[in-house]
Amino acid sequence: MCGIVGYAGHRQAADVVIEGLRRLEYRGYDSAGIAVVEDGKLRSAKRAGKLVNLVEALAEGAPLPGRVGVGHTRWATHGPPTDPNAHPHTDCNGHLAVVHNGIIENFAALRAEAAAAGHELASDTDTEVVAHLLEAEMAAADADGTQLARPGSLAEAMRRVCRRLEGAFTLVAVDIRDPGAVVGARRNSPLVIGCGEGENFLASDVAAFIAYTRRAVELGQDQVAEIRADGVTVTGFDGVPARVTGYRVDWDVSAAEKAGYEYFMLKEIAEQPRAIADTLLGRIGADGNLTLDEMRLPADELREIDKIVVVACGTAYHAGMIAKYAIEHWCRIPCEVELASEFRYRDPILTRSTLVIAISQSGETMDTLMAVRHAREQRSRVLAICNVNGSSIPRECDAVLYTRAGPEIAVASTKAFLTQLVGCYLVALYLAQLRGTKYGDEARDVVSQLAQMPNAVDVVLETMEPVRALARELASEGCVLFLGRHVGFPVALEGALKLKELAYMHAEGFAAGELKHGPIALIEGGLPVVVVVPSPGGREVLHDKIVSNIQEIRARGARVIVIAEEGDHEVKPYADTLIEVPHVPTLLQPLVTTVPLQVFACELATAKGHDVDQPRNLAKSVTVE
Ligand code: G6P
Repeated sequence: MCGIVGYAGHRQAADVVIEGLRRLEYRGYDSAGIAVVEDGKLRSAKRAGKLVNLVEALAEGAPLPGRVGVGHTRWATHGPPTDPNAHPHTDCNGHLAVVHNGIIENFAALRAEAAAAGHELASDTDTEVVAHLLEAEMAAADADGTQLARPGSLAEAMRRVCRRLEGAFTLVAVDIRDPGAVVGARRNSPLVIGCGEGENFLASDVAAFIAYTRRAVELGQDQVAEIRADGVTVTGFDGVPARVTGYRVDWDVSAAEKAGYEYFMLKEIAEQPRAIADTLLGRIGADGNLTLDEMRLPADELREIDKIVVVACGTAYHAGMIAKYAIEHWCRIPCEVELASEFRYRDPILTRSTLVIAISQSGETMDTLMAVRHAREQRSRVLAICNVNGSSIPRECDAVLYTRAGPEIAVASTKAFLTQLVGCYLVALYLAQLRGTKYGDEARDVVSQLAQMPNAVDVVLETMEPVRALARELASEGCVLFLGRHVGFPVALEGALKLKELAYMHAEGFAAGELKHGPIALIEGGLPVVVVVPSPGGREVLHDKIVSNIQEIRARGARVIVIAEEGDHEVKPYADTLIEVPHVPTLLQPLVTTVPLQVFACELATAKGHDVDQPRNLAKSVTVE
């Protein structure tokens, strides 16, 4: 949540910062702002609303020269999305500016202290107290009041301030008294350093600087980085120099472009076959066995596991729900799935032989990160299934399996979800292979079916025009329900979530068997109900039961939209609209049945005139609890 950019180099900082914010806008779009340092002056501009408002304001005003600057795109926590609450926040004298991502939990006490000391607070934010704390530290360092440039003074002030802060924060600041420096600090929220030639960057995500450099360093917990055009210095909050390791970003700027699509979401839906194929790449040996040595969990330890707990949020949680079916069926290990935000607060029973699997696209979701820390404190093994290299969650886990969806920019998750499923299937099959709970040839059979999935998803994508037509037709409906059984149940939840997120429409997913215990009271004439029908060739009993559920809702006047396997003649007569998907094994079905629901939600939201990449009130990387 909130996107941050800092730049020190040879280019116009304002251009680099605005371009970086454009790439980070998925992290929040309640307001945007920029500050640059030039010739002993701090100049800033900020506007409520999307980045375009700031860009328009800058175009009308005087240019912002300077080769050092910071920028911010906000997802509001403290204070409504207004101009005064937009970042950067400045001190009383306009000497320094700071941007922030996260929540400073002890801000009320610090704010009272700042006010008592005579500082003027101009916003409702927790961030502004940092500007005034920095002001006090800089004033103390500038005892003779000459305001002479002192390289390193801002970094020292930042370290002193950070030691007083509680909560989660990424902070980036500039100050006219240390004019060549941009200083960043990090606790629990992400900050990456981009290392260029004669220029350096700070950003919440590499996307902000990938057009200039692919060399990156992830700032560690409780560290402060000072970047200048010609160098980078990293220390702990205590001032002790830190050892850092860099990495090379393995995708280029075109991966973060729309490539001719109207929305990132459309592009990301279309990329799903490739994303699945990439996630499988190199993980299936020539003999059909899985090789997941990269996970770094010794085989002996994996054999001793007696319970698996999956923790995740949002769409990733739905992937976890599906993983449970696969893990228990293939590995015969009891598996629980829990919303990460609930997990640690109920005192879960975890032991050294529990494997906790944390699923997260961004690797930064605060609830999931906190669940990981809790599990590690209990000495459980923790495996991350994550899409972003080097992000906080995999860094704090014992092991990681990276999905290879590439950058996912639309706020609503699509390709990350399908690759999370693939990641879960791989882990489950690997455990089954290792523990011998599936015969080798059976496991290899599933693995080879998994390898067919990019084709199957391709086929689905090619037949989506009727789904788009249906979405346009239903755009004025007030409510849509989704039903499923077995792995179709989490798919129903995911279908409903997509519609809520994108179309702001009341949508609910239910386990079809639960219908008669309450939700059936919602059914009335013409209500659209999407039913995810299991394969008739898989578990017949499941198929027959859902056909009965369809009868029950039809009898009450629902408009039945069925997603079923091609050639399912039994269900066809009861469908007002039939969406066919290719036959795939039951446990893998979510890979094909979710796709029409993504397309449906995206098209319906577009028909309602919504920005599907940036739905209201949401942000992609949720770095607050
Ligand atoms: C946000 C996003 C969702 C995502 C969830 C978890 O709510 O809008 O699309 O599923 O966070 O994110 P993660 O990065 O942990 O997968």
